Amino acid sequence: MTEKPSDAVVFFGATGDLAYKQIFPALMGLVRDEGLKVPIIGVAKAGWGLDQLKDRAADSLKHHGVTDDATIKRLTDLLRYVDGDYNDEGTFAELRQQLGEAKHPLHYLAVPPSLFGTVAEALAKSGSAEGGRLVIEKPFGHNRETSKTLSRLLAKFFPEESIFRIDHYLGKEPVQNIVYTRFANSFLEPIWNRDHIDSIQITMAENFGVQDRGAFYDETGAIRDVVQNHLLQVLAQLTMDPPTGEEHEAMRDQKAALLKAVRPLDSLSVVRGQYDGYQSVPGVRAGSSVETFVAVKLFIESWRWEGVPIFIRAGKMLPVTCTEVLVAFKRPPRETFNEIVPTKAGHLRMRISPDVNIGMGVRVKLPGDRMVGEDVEMILTQQAPSFTPPYQRLLGDAIRGIGELFGRDDIIDAQWRVVEAILDNVTPVYRYKPGTWGPDEAEALVEGHARWHNPRPAEGT
Ligand code: BG6
Repeated sequence: MTEKPSDAVVFFGATGDLAYKQIFPALMGLVRDEGLKVPIIGVAKAGWGLDQLKDRAADSLKHHGVTDDATIKRLTDLLRYVDGDYNDEGTFAELRQQLGEAKHPLHYLAVPPSLFGTVAEALAKSGSAEGGRLVIEKPFGHNRETSKTLSRLLAKFFPEESIFRIDHYLGKEPVQNIVYTRFANSFLEPIWNRDHIDSIQITMAENFGVQDRGAFYDETGAIRDVVQNHLLQVLAQLTMDPPTGEEHEAMRDQKAALLKAVRPLDSLSVVRGQYDGYQSVPGVRAGSSVETFVAVKLFIESWRWEGVPIFIRAGKMLPVTCTEVLVAFKRPPRETFNEIVPTKAGHLRMRISPDVNIGMGVRVKLPGDRMVGEDVEMILTQQAPSFTPPYQRLLGDAIRGIGELFGRDDIIDAQWRVVEAILDNVTPVYRYKPGTWGPDEAEALVEGHARWHNPRPAEGT
């Protein structure tokens, strides 16, 4: 492994969607905010030349709000371009030439996963892998087995510490804020366990459908798309033990230990749904039973969490776009004031997307002679979503060789292990109306615990 920053950035799929939507803006941010100055080489098979790549970059940046030509030029001046087939050795020979003296190039594979192996192997054969880094995007396989196959394949060409698997949720500052809030305070740790916590909920709601991604989504579904990765990462941030020692893998080691302790889901602990209208999205197969909504109940087999249910819910076409966590505390052991109160107890609520909003729910006395109260929420912090964009943060970390915010082989495997048994239609898929909180069947999952907490829209959305 090299600790040295990358001295060139190569991105495959340079003419594609991911480059347009995420990579150019992220690179621009790094050039503008962090003075990135290394050669940036786009590779694609499009019959393009460098000028077309520069135009495409400029177009992407303008689309993303960068209007100043001089700023745009700072990025486009760094661009180089190699046009060619990924199966052609000549493409990689030319890339090697373009890399010149670079010893630690970072290779970002913004290409379909079926090409990961082909490109990684060709990089190795042409002498561009040694000392370099590889960045890849989900999906990492389609299930546990294919994920392992991919890992074994990549391991032939790049050592594990040089592989950076992007889960863009980890690049979101509010997600990092979960571990920060937990471990930068000492008052939470003593109550962060089965003795005080009744249940935990994580809801990722989106008020839009699958848009123009019908064909991709219909091969994927909500479990693979966001539960196996983003939401299990959020779960780990919420429930892992504090990292120990100074070792740079300390954080990921604790996360891996937690995810390996999650009991694999089974068909009894999942409710799947599909919104009305999904079947007419272009690219979706007629009669598709792919889920656009999922709710699961899972448990962590550890002393800290034994018996505490964790509910995860994700869906498209729900009433709001918001990801929020609710940690529900247990009720007091005795009803000292004999109030007839609903089953609510105190909570900690953390909104992690699109903005940060952390609130603590407590019961306080109402003014008057009687000992009766009401539930109120103290807002601990509210931060507008003005963070470094996740891709900029992650690409910057990968260039610096910092792996903490990336998936690791054992972590990805542990995540697949959790969902393996509920993939592929093992339960019915219930219909729901767009703009609702999914099928009613999901209510039964939380029985005996705090009801589903439906996040309110973030201010200004
Ligand atoms: C992606 C999923 O990984 O995350 C999408 O494929 C989802 O379906 C997206 O919409 C959500 O990310 P964000 O950052 O917009 O909340």
